Amino acid sequence: QEQGMAEAAMGGNLEHARETGDGSDVSTISAAAPAEVGLRFEVDGEIATVTLDRPDKRNAQTFATWSALARIGETLPEQVRVVVVRGEGPSFSAGIDLRMFTPEGVPGQGSFASAAALGDTEFEQRIAEAQKGFLWLRRPEIVSIAAVQGHAIGAGFQLALACDLRVVADDVKFCMKEPALGLVPDLTGTKPLADIVGVPRAIEMCLTARTVGAAEAVRLGLAEIAVPASELAQAVQDLAAALLATDRAAAAATKRLLQAAPGRTLEEQAAAERAEQVTRIRALFASN
Ligand code: ACO
Repeated sequence: QEQGMAEAAMGGNLEHARETGDGSDVSTISAAAPAEVGLRFEVDGEIATVTLDRPDKRNAQTFATWSALARIGETLPEQVRVVVVRGEGPSFSAGIDLRMFTPEGVPGQGSFASAAALGDTEFEQRIAEAQKGFLWLRRPEIVSIAAVQGHAIGAGFQLALACDLRVVADDVKFCMKEPALGLVPDLTGTKPLADIVGVPRAIEMCLTARTVGAAEAVRLGLAEIAVPASELAQAVQDLAAALLATDRAAAAATKRLLQAAPGRTLEEQAAAERAEQVTRIRALFASN
């Protein structure tokens, strides 16, 4: 199977850089980004893998990381059905790069101090750009799986929450650290967290900025499964294979239904099921 891979060592530009043998596109990240991007992107058939790849800094994330993530979402090859988000090294991600809190900031990306001087619209636009890196992971056409070991702090926890499913190592440490640092979680994490654990538990967890381990994560539904760290990659591979075993169009339609279910009445959901099923059955009989 063809494999596309490039290091996001510099620049943050993603481009369809390679035509593979059978003519399908494989996205790669061009080598023109700042070292702070720290992402690797690989496509192997129907599975894409996004790897946070700055283990020496515990995969700390910057605005360049989020821009590159957004570009991956924008240019994701159509054949991809499963997206795995993982982190290199002992921790999934130690969250936002703490240099953002310093006057110097992150080279080429400014600091919170410089961002604070922006107008409201421009400042919120900057946050919206960052959020784009997370939101595409919910697309119905794909299932996103976070493979999480060690620390998943702040932006790291939110990146895991941005995925549909979480497979965790037994050493996982989730922590929504933002309130302890004077911030709110703004990388799309508050909704999935509240949806999964409920508002009271989410308040308790975030406003104490405490750590949640593997057993509690599974109990609360924050993780689908916890495995020994040495088995994390295999567990994710097994889950991806099981997800790929179902029909592609039916999987997308079912995900659409399930995502919309909490916001609908029973009657509305029943109507949505009917509409999706009519399309499905017509498609099945058209192709058989
Ligand atoms: N930003 C920048 N550098 C970081 C970050 C970070 N968020 N986290 C770790 N690093 C760096 C350390 O400075 C250190 O660098 P150095 O080797 O050049 O000194 C290296 O990564 C390793 O870090 P250690 O602390 O030595 O690693 P350890 O495994 O002992 O601890 C831990 C890991 C617990 C994650 C710790 O590094 C930590 O608490 N980091 C900060 C977490 C944080 O507050 N994140 C912000 C959350 S809020 C948000 O994301 C919006």
